Amino acid sequence: MSTSPPGQGPAAVLAGLGTWLPPKVVSNHELARELDTSDEWIRTRTGIGQRHVIEPGSATSWLAVEAGRRALKSAQCDEAGAVVVATSTPDRPCPATAPEVASRLGLSGIPAFDVGAVCAGFVYGLATGAGLISAGIADNVLVIGADAFSTILNPGDRTTRAIFGDGAGAVVLRRGEHDEPGALGPFDLGSDGELSDLIMIPAGGSRQRATGTPASPADHYFTMSGKPVFMQAVLRMTESVHRVLGQAGWTVDDIDRFVGHQANSRILTALAERLELPENRIVSNIERVGNTAAASIPLALADGGLRPGERVLLTSFGGGLAWGSTVLRWPDLIPG
Ligand code: UT7
Repeated sequence: MSTSPPGQGPAAVLAGLGTWLPPKVVSNHELARELDTSDEWIRTRTGIGQRHVIEPGSATSWLAVEAGRRALKSAQCDEAGAVVVATSTPDRPCPATAPEVASRLGLSGIPAFDVGAVCAGFVYGLATGAGLISAGIADNVLVIGADAFSTILNPGDRTTRAIFGDGAGAVVLRRGEHDEPGALGPFDLGSDGELSDLIMIPAGGSRQRATGTPASPADHYFTMSGKPVFMQAVLRMTESVHRVLGQAGWTVDDIDRFVGHQANSRILTALAERLELPENRIVSNIERVGNTAAASIPLALADGGLRPGERVLLTSFGGGLAWGSTVLRWPDLIPG
């Protein structure tokens, strides 16, 4: 589905960016001491060299608060009209994590809620923030992508443990004009629930209802069917990129920097080939952080060395299935 053509209502302008990674790093070599894997397999099949993970006792809200604080500092503001947290690893299944994050940032009393679109969550969060601004509900919105997948992975699953890492990234969106640097949009968002089983946690929701007796422990862990997800990721992001380019009136040649979901470096290479986009325009920080789910896009934005005025395309894909893309001209930001 295509949404929000520029020119209707006020624009949402990216005004601040902040990120946070937990200090603990787990290298491929360390994983290979626990699991039947190797640095060589993980690097060649995924491009990942290490990932950050939170310590026991910590939670997603901590990552979100740290990134949110830095985004507010970058935007030089100490208040927001709303807080949106994109996450699939909320502190608890109920309530949402965003109200607690808002309170800990000194932002009590404002609308604060979670968005669940797994690895596409940050782009969905941006679209939600832009919608709040264009509807006149908020003048500025703090959008945070935060995930701690290390808390939901099966300790014995070498595939998912090789890929996922923890982290958070946040942006401040402010009300502005469609022709100024940082203005977001148009957006292309979509989903395919027929393939919802490809990425899931079987227990903990209403389908496998609480009985007082714990479900099978394995049912509480995240599962992913890697191969079909890989194929869907390439297909859906390619299609979404073409749609959003069409709406924006851009061509592939207009993209200065391509910031795709950092799921697997081979997916980014496949996207570059399909789109006929030179690989040097593709931003990638996957070697250092792995797949950080909803935090992936803002962490890549922060690491991408983007220069003011560059035309940037964001595209993401994840469980649901869900995908989303948008474009912007990179603004001149103060570091968070
Ligand atoms: O972020 C949301 C969206 N997620 C994605 O986009 C992820 C998409 N999928 C992928 O990135 C890849 O499918 C994976 C990285 C998850 C897996 O890579 P693959 O090349 O598709 O491997 P595979 O699942 O087809 O497995 C090939 C072999 C299997 O062994 P056999 O059955 O051929 O003997 C796996 O058991 O590789 C084995 N394998 C591993 N070996 C060493 C799987 N994981 C590992 C591992 N170390 N960590």
